[in-house]
Amino acid sequence: MTEVNPNDLMSLCKRRGFIWPSFELYGGVAGMYDYGPLGCALRNNIVDMWRGIYKGREGFVEIDSETVNPREVLAASGHVENFADLITYCQKCGAPYRADHMVKGIFDNPDVLTPKQLEEAFVEHGIKCPACGGDLGPVDEFNLMFRTNIGPGSSRVGYLRPETAQGIFVNFANLYRYNREKLPLGVIQTGRSYRNEIAPRQGMIRMREFNQMEVELFVDPEDKDWVRFHEVEDGTLDLIPNTTLEPVTMTVGEAVEKGVIANRVLAYFVYTTKQLLTGLGIDSKRLRFREHEKDEMAHYAADCWDAEVLLSYGWTEIVGIADRGSWDLTRHAQFSGADLTHLKRFDEPREMEVEKVAAKHKALGPAFKSKAKAIAAAMESMSPSDIRDGRLKVSVDGEEIELTDDYFEVVKRVEKVAGIRVTPHVIEPSHGLDRIFYSVLEHAYDQKDDYTVLRLVPAVAPIKVGVFPLMEKDGLDKMAKEIYEKVHTHRVEAYYDGSGTIGKRYARMDEVGTPWCLTVDYQSLDDGTVTIRDRDTSDQRRIPASEAAAVIDSLLAGKEFSSI
Ligand code: GLY
Repeated sequence: MTEVNPNDLMSLCKRRGFIWPSFELYGGVAGMYDYGPLGCALRNNIVDMWRGIYKGREGFVEIDSETVNPREVLAASGHVENFADLITYCQKCGAPYRADHMVKGIFDNPDVLTPKQLEEAFVEHGIKCPACGGDLGPVDEFNLMFRTNIGPGSSRVGYLRPETAQGIFVNFANLYRYNREKLPLGVIQTGRSYRNEIAPRQGMIRMREFNQMEVELFVDPEDKDWVRFHEVEDGTLDLIPNTTLEPVTMTVGEAVEKGVIANRVLAYFVYTTKQLLTGLGIDSKRLRFREHEKDEMAHYAADCWDAEVLLSYGWTEIVGIADRGSWDLTRHAQFSGADLTHLKRFDEPREMEVEKVAAKHKALGPAFKSKAKAIAAAMESMSPSDIRDGRLKVSVDGEEIELTDDYFEVVKRVEKVAGIRVTPHVIEPSHGLDRIFYSVLEHAYDQKDDYTVLRLVPAVAPIKVGVFPLMEKDGLDKMAKEIYEKVHTHRVEAYYDGSGTIGKRYARMDEVGTPWCLTVDYQSLDDGTVTIRDRDTSDQRRIPASEAAAVIDSLLAGKEFSSI
């Protein structure tokens, strides 16, 4: 394992077109990066593998929702009120700092300190502004959302979404209908989210505009099993539960039996996350799952496990697998007035006592005259959960009418009912795509004596095969170009390179993680064969040029290089 200097890796990323600091032409903006051609290809391969698991294997559906959200959505989700970090400013030079970061070396878990505790810690430990040595000022909350206005004027406040998840929750009723009103209902979404970080650090780990791959699985609150659980129960996980804070290795089955992971569906998706990450090339020995401590949990989470990888920055969260309970749907139902429940059908209709809205006809008649009948019908079609502050709002002939409880009451009746309504719970594996991207690069980075190889797994490598003529003459170049045309497809990105020594060309491909290279030499002109070189062993074999595309396909499908 190579010890990685993140500056070396970032400089490779810049030089070879993986990642460029955004707006460098104008001095750059902290926490913002653009993906170059190789970065885009690598990132797309990561997304494809994620999509392959969730859409392909698990059968989830995918949506794409808006990134600008009206205030109401994020007030309901709790982000307007709760989505804040603690900030302090230097009293002398005015530099802003994330307050908990100022005491990182002193407390194990500074995230949980209150503003007052942080202010006391600054004084007690003599913590000053790192830039000018001035005193740090009061600690306040700083909401991380970027605020904007929708349309001209400031009457409609909006925010850039801080997570893609809310686009799924606000579409729950549409998705539920699409799924024929059945649970479980799994939905995925990938796209940009935005957090106005106080002090972005650590390169791609904390970005202000970032990419997520989020999964929201709606389940029956009383059925947190998963149909494929048996396929993973013998798999092992390295865990740090919040009860002991001690690392422990156990099987998925044991973790559920011993109550370390709360339920089977959560455990299944913790293991799915391990499968995804190791499939992308993350080293399983540098991967663990840490349960959030109770006071560390996001405002919406009932339980949460972070997939953490060991990077040059230390253990770093790259995926969070949360049980969000019914938080989001309950809140959106409350704030919007919509019914966001699931009808859990009985096998046979049952007689049950139910609460109903009943119109008070004697009061309605004199007050509403000819409309009274229609108002009564509209009220009786509503449910007691529609009553807000003791009032019901109905719409009759296009007119909105608000009624106090002088005109209705809630009564109990025995009725035959088809089922009961429950608010689904949500299991959410939320993947930080840029963090995964960076982790894949760090774990693939191998440097010896100034020679760098990115040992990317073939599935994520941006270029799958380099195609070289030994010399750009004597028809070698023509033959190499013909081979390039055959192997370069929508699934296999090939790269033609005819310049420099062959050693330099191999080195250029090794540095960007290209698993195989095909070289056309003088023997190729005689017998129609080419050499194929393996990045990780530098082994070379001769294969018929006419079979090159098929050989690359078989290697991509997992065939051993030694057996071609
Ligand atoms: N949806 C979880 C997160 O964005 O962190």
